[in-house]
Amino acid sequence: MTSIIFIHPDGRNVCIEANGAESAMLAATSHGIDGILAECGGNAMCATCHVYVDEAWLDRLSPMGSEEDALLDGAAAERLPNSRLSCQIQLTPELDGLVLRLPDRQV
Ligand code: FES
Repeated sequence: MTSIIFIHPDGRNVCIEANGAESAMLAATSHGIDGILAECGGNAMCATCHVYVDEAWLDRLSPMGSEEDALLDGAAAERLPNSRLSCQIQLTPELDGLVLRLPDRQV
């Protein structure tokens, strides 16, 4: 089991079990996490799955690809050094307890 904690802009914390989802975005949308729109369905085309990765977890994620990097420049909310697209965060057992903060808007 890989659990993920989403922290909303208002401070609400929601902990979900990924239940085998391949990406943090799919785990979020299957649990109805508002704040993750994922308009392109995970094809790295929309940037509406933007998240801020808790600093303690940043180094444990797979490196950012050039497509993701370019898309994050167009994200609706401010891009920060810990910005990632949740559809590009591949879940592994090592990411159990991952903490992701949601931006204040996705569009
Ligand atoms: S779901 Fe569209 S870029 Fe992640």
